[in-house]
Amino acid sequence: MEGPGDLEMSRRGLLFGSAATVAMTTVPFAGPAQATNPQATASERPAMPDGTPVMSTLSFTVNGTSHTLRLDTRTTLLDALREHLRLTGTKKGCDHGQCGACTVIVDGRRLNSCLSLAVMHEGGSVTTIEGLGRPGDLHPMQAAFVKHDGYQCGYCTPGQICSAVAVLDEIKAGIPSHVSADLNATPRLSAAELRERMSGNICRCGAYSNIVDAITDVAGRES
Ligand code: FES
Ligand code: FES
Repeated sequence: MEGPGDLEMSRRGLLFGSAATVAMTTVPFAGPAQATNPQATASERPAMPDGTPVMSTLSFTVNGTSHTLRLDTRTTLLDALREHLRLTGTKKGCDHGQCGACTVIVDGRRLNSCLSLAVMHEGGSVTTIEGLGRPGDLHPMQAAFVKHDGYQCGYCTPGQICSAVAVLDEIKAGIPSHVSADLNATPRLSAAELRERMSGNICRCGAYSNIVDAITDVAGRES
């Protein structure tokens, strides 16, 4: 007959056994290159089990120009933009959906391009920082970031600006955030609302208050 100690051992054995099973079934799909090098492009990541990449053709529009690319299906939208179209304004920070540096606007909605496979955007329309404005003809949000010193090193800035442009559209469309949803209220422009909506865009330089000033400035001119 089993005593309490035996039962405890059985539970522990089960737990360790389960952990080992998870590890054994997970390891083949999370190769060391992917685990240790977030900067790796699709071609540098571990190959499929038989070693053959699966290729696909993608046709989409980027900043108003049509492109057709032949891509490894594992290619992220971020790598397609940076490595295949040489649009390096969009930045790779974490490559794990944690920093927002890779934010672009796809079919009117902001998106972390490091978390999205390029082939998912067949027929889509992508806007990157290069498509918002250019030197001498800045988008109002770009000009406001300059005016309010909404950056220091600038690495997060393309993602911040793309996100900020989409945020104002979200508020205009009445799409709730956690702040407005908690208050059961229509979204309105406030520092709390903007900080909540921009919370997916991290700035290591801590330019947050100036970023809110820049967005508020543009929103005031648009209203
Ligand atoms: S690079 Fe995409 S969220 Fe950090
Ligand atoms: S300006 Fe340096 S990370 Fe934001």
